[in-house]
Amino acid sequence: MLIRNPADIPPSEITSEQTFLNRRSVIRALGLGAAGSLLPVSGRADEAPVVEEPLTPESIVTGFNNFYEFGTNKGDPARYAHRLTTSPWKVRISGEAENTGEFDFEDVVRGFTPEERIYRFRCVEAWSMVVPWLGIPLSQVLTRFKPTSQAKFVEFTTLYRPAEMPGQKAIFSSIDWPYVEGLRMDEAMHPLTLMATGVYGKALPNQNGAPWRLVVPWKYGFKSIKSIVGIRFSRSQPVNTWHRIAPGEYGFYANVNPDVSHPRWSQARERRLPSTLAEPNWRATQPFNGYAAEVAQLYTSMDLARYY
Ligand code: MTE
Repeated sequence: MLIRNPADIPPSEITSEQTFLNRRSVIRALGLGAAGSLLPVSGRADEAPVVEEPLTPESIVTGFNNFYEFGTNKGDPARYAHRLTTSPWKVRISGEAENTGEFDFEDVVRGFTPEERIYRFRCVEAWSMVVPWLGIPLSQVLTRFKPTSQAKFVEFTTLYRPAEMPGQKAIFSSIDWPYVEGLRMDEAMHPLTLMATGVYGKALPNQNGAPWRLVVPWKYGFKSIKSIVGIRFSRSQPVNTWHRIAPGEYGFYANVNPDVSHPRWSQARERRLPSTLAEPNWRATQPFNGYAAEVAQLYTSMDLARYY
């Protein structure tokens, strides 16, 4: 099983960094970062709920990663992802939509201005961060392709390129590449659902899923699929990678829920990074990762039973 029991992640991997950035210094950092970047920060962050918690330091956001295409240790993505070529980048749109085919990434995002969204990010491994993403609401991207009324789900696929992604070559890997994730259409169209193209005021580093990755802040982090090359509108529910590997442990919905334990560990608490042995920085996990009010209209009580 590749997603690890939090107790098995050594503190050296969790990081010893103690620096917390206060809001003002972060905003300054974002301003500086945006000035030197091709990704302007628009002033529309007020549409998303404000997270009044310290941001996780950039060194942790970009240095402590899950991206098994580059290896299973938290430092592997930052170490190896520079090998990934992200330009040119093609995106294949298929399925139940009027506007399908293969597109250049630049054309897919042309005309959209990335917004800054500060979201809590909760991994199923019981650690969490607060991340200043830059991104485009997924609804705007999907609308561009004119999905038909038959489109009930969206399936996303990560790049498959073993020559640049050493984890895809690993013979011990139990993952059936490429990595696949999916959302229900109404989840995909929800205003909080983001296609991130940047973080901390800069273009997305490869280890975080360049050139774009999904961010669904009320779901466990494995839903946030990286380096997307395929978007398919479908009538039936996609089978996501982790569900395929361990159906008893990971489901399709994966909504953050402190009351439903993972079969091997509790989800009631999380370690907010940075976390050390001396100061694990535990905090209570919130239903829907603190976004319950925003997403309440998406779920009936039937759905709520299906967290995994
Ligand atoms: N996407 C791909 N293609 N491959 C992966 O291994 N890991 C997922 C998700 N997206 C993963 C992925 C998991 S388990 C998590 S917690 C987040 O990416 C981590 O995102 P981050 O490294 O930017 O914090």
